[in-house]
Amino acid sequence: MRALEDYLSQLRLVLESGFSGSRLEPWWQAMWPDIVAALPAHGSSAKWEHALSSLPTLPPTSVDAGPVVRVGREQDLSREQHEILHTSLSALSPWRKGPFDFFGVVVDSEWRSDWKWQRLIDHVRPLEGRRVLDVGCGNGYYAWRMLGAGARVVVGMDPGVLCVQQFRAALSYQPHAPIALLPLGSEALDRDLAVFDSVFSMGVLYHRRDPLEHLRELRRALRDGGELVLETLVIDSDACEALAPPGRYARMRNVWTVPSPTLVQQWLREAGFAEVRCVDVTVTGIDEQRATPWMTFNSLRDFLDPEDPAFTVEGHPAPTRALFIATTG
Ligand SMILES: C[S@@+](CC[C@H](N)C(=O)[O-])C[C@H]1O[C@@H](n2cnc3c(N)ncnc32)[C@H](O)[C@@H]1O
Repeated sequence: MRALEDYLSQLRLVLESGFSGSRLEPWWQAMWPDIVAALPAHGSSAKWEHALSSLPTLPPTSVDAGPVVRVGREQDLSREQHEILHTSLSALSPWRKGPFDFFGVVVDSEWRSDWKWQRLIDHVRPLEGRRVLDVGCGNGYYAWRMLGAGARVVVGMDPGVLCVQQFRAALSYQPHAPIALLPLGSEALDRDLAVFDSVFSMGVLYHRRDPLEHLRELRRALRDGGELVLETLVIDSDACEALAPPGRYARMRNVWTVPSPTLVQQWLREAGFAEVRCVDVTVTGIDEQRATPWMTFNSLRDFLDPEDPAFTVEGHPAPTRALFIATTG
């Protein structure tokens, strides 16, 4: 969405049509002032707003949500429009989640997010017709994948404003997609909504000082009989224990707790989930998270001990991520 007002109108439309008469309706209406306030048009946002308003104007086009989320086709743009598009998308860097292809401009993001999708998709209930919430959704890469997998409507939440701006770039070419990305943290899930059929929280749990409260937020968002997909950093241990990094973890400042898979499963049960399963544990490789022309800062390779990449530069076990599925009974 090129103009902020257009984006806000589209948000309202998706929320109104997707959740009329549900408990989400009074919730999003109460949150509306926070949503609007989180998307200012000054500071860095002024640069991003300029980039968005410079995107080539075209009629709505297709978004093909394969491993590469493809917006439009290369032949739809002139060479001059390609250059303008490249400049606008570059101004929205760093691109951490993807890959995307905008009219032949391939945005090779820091993460191969398609690899995580591949690890999880065969384990989750089919998304056809479901109302899905993606908490900590980044720039909406997975929201497009969820829509492509048949979701009726997808709501994403992420307090990172640049994430929303990158999402707007894709949405501007398919303005009627039933996706609403809210610039809010999951702390906003402070009441029983009981509305979503599937809730995803990937890469958020360890950023929360109170992980159990995060799981309760997710529980409150789900209807009875719904499904949670949780992904988090874990330590390799069969015991019910956690690493609480005293300083940074892989150079990240905001990693508070890295639990064992057993502890995550215990927390999930404590938060009210049933049928808890750990379906995948994968050590993150430097080919899955790496610097690219679209994310030129340091990446995983720089965060690992050069002498022994089984450890981070701080001496902690190297990043390993696990996927859990649980239901609400
Ligand atoms: C490691 S990234 C994961 C992004 C994506 N879910 C994925 O799996 O690739 C963590 C994301 O969570 C967001 N985040 C951090 N704290 C959050 C919170 N309290 N509620 C929701 N999202 C949060 C960050 O802005 C960031 O986009």
